[in-house]
Amino acid sequence: AKGGKILVLPGDHIGPEVVAEALKVLDIIEEHNGVKFEREFDLCGGCSLDKHGIASTEEVLQKSVEADAVFFGSAGGPEWGHKLPNPESGLLRVRQKMQIFANLRPCYFASQSLIERSPIKEELIKGVNFMLIRENCGGAYFGKKVENEDYGLDPWEYTRSEIERVARVAGALAMQTDPPTPVTSVDKANVLANSRVWRKIVTQVFEKEFPKVKLQHQLADSLAMLFITQPTRWNGIILTDNTFGDILSDESGGLTGSLGLLPSASLAGAPGGQTGQNSVGGARGLYEPVHGSAPDISGKGLANPVAQVLSLAMMLRYSFNMYHEAEVVEKAVEKVLDAKDIGGLGLRSGDLGGKAGTKEMSEAIQSEVKKLLKA
Ligand code: NAD
Ligand code: IPM
Ligand code: MN
Repeated sequence: AKGGKILVLPGDHIGPEVVAEALKVLDIIEEHNGVKFEREFDLCGGCSLDKHGIASTEEVLQKSVEADAVFFGSAGGPEWGHKLPNPESGLLRVRQKMQIFANLRPCYFASQSLIERSPIKEELIKGVNFMLIRENCGGAYFGKKVENEDYGLDPWEYTRSEIERVARVAGALAMQTDPPTPVTSVDKANVLANSRVWRKIVTQVFEKEFPKVKLQHQLADSLAMLFITQPTRWNGIILTDNTFGDILSDESGGLTGSLGLLPSASLAGAPGGQTGQNSVGGARGLYEPVHGSAPDISGKGLANPVAQVLSLAMMLRYSFNMYHEAEVVEKAVEKVLDAKDIGGLGLRSGDLGGKAGTKEMSEAIQSEVKKLLKA
């Protein structure tokens, strides 16, 4: 393995708490493999606003495109509010600068022992496993906004090329399995013009380039309901726009029992699978949990580090082709969650009904990683 360059942006509140723990897992892998990553730390979010008056500086944006991967915590908090420039705008600037237009947000049980934690009945939720691909650089999030005392406008627009490139990621990912994984494209084509264009272009891309992939379309509002009543019906790939993807991926946290479990990877092309590089943009990627900065529990050592640790696994897999190490990290997380309560320590954080803190969970994961690497 040859390592690479990682820009670490821990952000605000629990961001730095869980990023620090995830990086200890990386330390262990480095030590074991003799591989060395160049790590640079910088500010993004409220911490950057406080110091520079802007949530991500030009320098950070520049560094983010020069790194092989950006490892991101979370940005935001009540002390900064939502008025622009807000902490969240720092993250959006990084996403746009990197043009990492495909945000992969998997939803599955990191351990079967978590099924009973889900608010959904076991017979419905068991086996849920989908990869939600959220368009990450367009839609209502970007474009020319207008905002004053009496009026607000977010142009929710998509161009052909923006839709084609993210549809191709879904298609390429679908073709990595045999038989190809079915794809559900999610929109509001019954109301929104940009959704009608989305549906048409997605259909064209699949007909032309991925004829073997089964593509279906689903309206976003009904999917939000059917996620709960028939969650496993969507197993496979879900392809959707920025806003719907944001909302539905938090719902994934509800399905699996906690937001503290869900990682994400944002890429500039399809992941190459076991054999190759990303189809576009080399290894470029940004890795962050689906959850936010959780100001309600920050500073107390209570945050669940799993989502951040699993984001590290995604980084190893997609940006550095370290498939074995990625699996080791995932397996270690699974083991710790399986154990539930080894030695009366309650190795589960509060969001999972346990009494363990960030440190205890992280240390348990680290020790499993060490064991698995040696095995
Ligand atoms: P949130 O995801 O921060 O928290 C929602 C709930 O989930 C809270 O009760 C929180 O305690 C819990 N939670 C989240 N992560 C957890 C973890 N790792 N362990 C245990 N519990 C966890 O959402 P919110 O409260 O709506 O947002 C707080 C701030 O975070 C806002 O400013 C928002 O904009 C920002 N945010 C940032 C990102 C990001 O930087 N990627 C993502 C989402 C939200
Ligand atoms: C997420 C977050 C971000 C988003 C915010 C913090 C900008 O909610 O990553 O899901 O809406 O994309
Ligand atoms: Mn979100």
